[in-house]
Amino acid sequence: MCGIIGYTGRRPAVPVVVEGLRSLEYRGYDSAGVSFVHRGSLRVIRSQGKLANLEERLVTEPVVTATCAMGHTRWATHGVPAERNAHPHASGDQTIAIVHNGIIENHQELKDELVKLGHVFYSETDTEVLVNLIAERRRSEPDLLHAFASALREAKGAYAVCMMHKDEPNTLYAARMSAPLIFGVGTGEHFVASDIPAFLPYTRQVVFLEDGEIVKADAGGYQLMHLSDLSEISRESQTILWDMQAARKGGYRHFMLKEIFEQPRVVTDCLTGRIPHGHEGVLLPELEHLPTPKRLHIVACGTSFHSGSWGRHLLEPWAGIPTQVEIASEFRYREATLLDAEDMVLVISQSGETADTLAALRSVRERGGKVIGLCNVVGSSIAREADAVIYTQAGPEISVASTKAMCSQMVMLALLALHWKGRKEGGAPGTPSVMEAVELLQSLPAILDDHMPAMRERAVELARAYSEATNFFYLGRGHCFPLACEGALKLKELSYIHAEGYAAGEMKHGPIALVDPAFPTFVLALNDALLPKVESNIKEIQARRGKVIALTNPGVDLPVDDRWDIPAMPAPFSAFVALPALQLFSYAMADYLGKDVDQPRNLAKSVTVE
Ligand code: F6R
Repeated sequence: MCGIIGYTGRRPAVPVVVEGLRSLEYRGYDSAGVSFVHRGSLRVIRSQGKLANLEERLVTEPVVTATCAMGHTRWATHGVPAERNAHPHASGDQTIAIVHNGIIENHQELKDELVKLGHVFYSETDTEVLVNLIAERRRSEPDLLHAFASALREAKGAYAVCMMHKDEPNTLYAARMSAPLIFGVGTGEHFVASDIPAFLPYTRQVVFLEDGEIVKADAGGYQLMHLSDLSEISRESQTILWDMQAARKGGYRHFMLKEIFEQPRVVTDCLTGRIPHGHEGVLLPELEHLPTPKRLHIVACGTSFHSGSWGRHLLEPWAGIPTQVEIASEFRYREATLLDAEDMVLVISQSGETADTLAALRSVRERGGKVIGLCNVVGSSIAREADAVIYTQAGPEISVASTKAMCSQMVMLALLALHWKGRKEGGAPGTPSVMEAVELLQSLPAILDDHMPAMRERAVELARAYSEATNFFYLGRGHCFPLACEGALKLKELSYIHAEGYAAGEMKHGPIALVDPAFPTFVLALNDALLPKVESNIKEIQARRGKVIALTNPGVDLPVDDRWDIPAMPAPFSAFVALPALQLFSYAMADYLGKDVDQPRNLAKSVTVE
């Protein structure tokens, strides 16, 4: 996690870096800091908590003259959130400062060596070890570049790191190994950052750094090199077509609300170009070189795992492909025993940088397995390392809680199931034809646009009515079970209310013991083939005096405490209407309870640690 940015050019650098940090704050916000050189001395200014605290500190600092600076926003891994653990970290002799995202796994070994050599440490971080190791290697290496590379070659683990030295006030050094780092090329100015929006106001020209690469830059130019031998690399920059407006709130109170309301547009964007006029099937040219899998393993974390679990309910019946869905942090340690030669792995990740998902991808590929990546962030590690990548077209997702990314993943999973169904001409009887399914998907944006404002109002009413509850069950059957899990995840991560998603039929095997009048249950009771079974589960809860909120469709006769009617769609397309309802309920609850909606405590957007 953590966000880093570095700038060298002709502008006052600290404001550029602080502005960049603002767009990286989604990556962590336990502390923030900047460094630059002022009159020959290295200045390191850090502050615990959000960026605003750092900005207050900067008011009294001589920041105006520096034209090169770097900054960091932190999500704590090594050491508690505190100023002493905030980045940048300086070497003991105050010559070198670095900002770092990742984990140096052999930090203790390196630290023991450095302590013996007389280095003193003031923080609990692995980063302070790295900066002192660079300072130590500087004694024996011919220059700073060699010292930087030498120290990094000794470090095991993951890093995106940026460095500056008090004697080279306008030069940045940066390197990448298993953590995102992007280099921005402006006119007479250069940037390094964890993510593109950090420098998008200044340049759209980007060089994606690969693992094991170093870049050295000042205002006049840059050199890209291999970390192993410092040999030069020549790589063209790419032009990014993103719109910066997309990364702003667009009039909504929170990014999360904006992103929930973007879902109709997301559905349209995901469908664009996939079903050309007069074409029979779904076009996924990204997969042309890969066979149709005999068996599929979907691997993902969190919300992306829930999308995958939902997708299974389409892939199996429509495409006739047996599908297993696995949490990446579990799959990666046991996949050797699971995979057959004709199996395929689909990794789903909004950020494309989630450490466990990336590690699962790498270990499958090392064993010769084929991996398809379903990612949102263009040029992310997963997108680049997979055998094929399908982009989800959700646009930048800023809210830490994922919403529109899940919708986009679900659309693409539906298209994937239809694509493979088309190739196999298979699927169980009674499943929709490709054309029927496509028409239903195409009808979604208008339905969502029409109903989301009313859904938001109902979400607010229900959130207020249940705001005193401290526990919730979320229940669903079939394709609604993963949605129930997602509803519970959203509620707990945003409102800090304990919530569990269960398969409705599992309640009587234990969890129902918890039900009482103060423990409400949110039931997905959509009008589909499983509704009669869900009704029985509702009665079981009511018999224990549990309150029930039912997310259902007009015309369904359900005697519950609170019903929430959403427009009817055939299963599994009904999921696209149920999903924003669940998201809006969690949003409304968190907002009503005064929680920090876009940046919930203890979380970060991109989980690049294992
Ligand atoms: C929840 C949430 C997380 C992510 C998870 C995977 O709202 O955002 O559970 O879904 O960290 O992230 P990606 O999809 O980037 O791999």
